[in-house]
Amino acid sequence: MDFRKLLENRRSVRQFEDRPVAIQLVKEIINDSIKAPNASNKQAWNFIIIMNKEYMKKLSDVSRLGFIKSVERNPNSPLKEYAVNLKEKKKVNFFHDAPCLVYITGPTSVSTIREDGGLLAAYFMLSAASRGLGTCWIGFGGGIRDKAVLKELGLPPGHHLISPIVVGYPKDGNLPTMPERREPVILKIIK
Ligand SMILES: Cc1cc2nc3c(=O)[nH]c(=O)nc-3n(C[C@H](O)[C@H](O)[C@H](O)COP(=O)(O)O)c2cc1C
Repeated sequence: MDFRKLLENRRSVRQFEDRPVAIQLVKEIINDSIKAPNASNKQAWNFIIIMNKEYMKKLSDVSRLGFIKSVERNPNSPLKEYAVNLKEKKKVNFFHDAPCLVYITGPTSVSTIREDGGLLAAYFMLSAASRGLGTCWIGFGGGIRDKAVLKELGLPPGHHLISPIVVGYPKDGNLPTMPERREPVILKIIK
């Protein structure tokens, strides 16, 4: 696929077909994603793959409660409004009922792990799009603080969840149109 076409096709997809994504395909996408640049070539990232929708709903519930708690601890949080809304929305599934969720994780001891993980996530989403799959980074799905759940996920102590990405086949093959981008602001060109 032409690279510009790929950039257009990489949209945040939030409606999925009710069919699984083969684990082998997910592993191939991960193998593409690890070609991303990363500081000092540490490659400190790891992955957790979840292919169980019921379990994903449980993770969504845990994330929702974790998010509400963390906002309540900080009364000046700019996210206060979200937390108030989410308190009522017990049925919400942050993961959009996708068939697969991949957490990119990494050790907190690597100072650039968030940058490395973010770049890796971009590669991951582009690779998935090139294979006809839809993805969406779910920031709301990363708020798990519950130690028992983190252990259940297989996250080693001292590591954190960097980017939760859902993966699946876009419903009826439809890709959302790209939300409009504003004109980039170039502050200065120095020649
Ligand atoms: C850090 C980050 C967090 C995001 N969190 C969510 C989220 O919790 N739920 C969701 O549906 N989309 C989420 N998104 C997707 C954005 O809403 C989406 O990228 C944006 O609207 C632009 O649309 P596009 O990806 O199709 O270009 C997130 C994206 C990023 C990069």
